[in-house]
Amino acid sequence: MADMDGFREAADFGIGQASPQTGFHVKGASSMGWGMKDRLSRIFSPATGRTVMLAFDHGFIMGPTSGVERIDLSIVPLIQYADCLMCTRGILRSSIPANVNKPVCLRSDAGTTVLTELNRNVLIDVEDAIRFNASAMAVMLSAGDGEQEAITVANLVRAADLGNRYGIPVMGVTAVGKQMERDARYFALASRVCAENGAAIVKTYYCEGFEKVVASCPVPIVIAGGKKLPEEEALALCYKAINDGAAGVDMGRNVFQSESPVAMIQAVHAVVHDGLTPKQGYELFLDLKNH
Ligand code: 5RP
Repeated sequence: MADMDGFREAADFGIGQASPQTGFHVKGASSMGWGMKDRLSRIFSPATGRTVMLAFDHGFIMGPTSGVERIDLSIVPLIQYADCLMCTRGILRSSIPANVNKPVCLRSDAGTTVLTELNRNVLIDVEDAIRFNASAMAVMLSAGDGEQEAITVANLVRAADLGNRYGIPVMGVTAVGKQMERDARYFALASRVCAENGAAIVKTYYCEGFEKVVASCPVPIVIAGGKKLPEEEALALCYKAINDGAAGVDMGRNVFQSESPVAMIQAVHAVVHDGLTPKQGYELFLDLKNH
């Protein structure tokens, strides 16, 4: 344990200063091996360095919630517009055609409907991730959550070790509990702990001061969308996150619960990759929705 005596609050984030590290379009990945880089390049576009992941893993702890009752009907039509799919192996095998040819960020920890120690202490067999041709493995980390933190850090470290063995990057998913703060200090802590423990990608939430979260995390950050917002607000969330340095989104409810999910995912894609403003993105959404 580092000596906390004389610990000083982080202040020098070098906001706006480009990193001298070059040579690869994914942050923090220049020293990785070919397989890791290939998989990261399937997720993050070499042209923009960004990604739109479509998250539909919600059922693994919540059951059939709104928008994911019938993956075959609600999610499959969206796949062509996503850069990457984030889901569990159960849904991948049962409901996603194997010829969609999209990279998969495979949910690789276990889900239970009631939070228990076991909940985050089990990983799927890495050989199953290989069989599914996963481009990344997603694993939760609960920073600052007592026992759960130790359990989930150990789980993430194990996933990173297995991923390193086979060239599969790990995405650390920062947990948000009811009692956890949702501010830049907390998300910067959680994101950095994920990266330091071996995550090659971090998924977290947008917040005030988000540029500090991004600046102090040495690997790319994608944001979760969170609960359903009106479409223009959800597009503004994407825009602000990208503007503050996020490398993309891993969005679920704001896409599949939209009044027009097909239009919404295309509008999100345009904001993330083409720099549309929220207003332009919303106009595109309305255009696509009405045609
Ligand atoms: C929860 C997850 C979800 O996939 C994530 O929260 C993204 O979905 P949404 O945009 O609906 O929040 O990983 O652990």
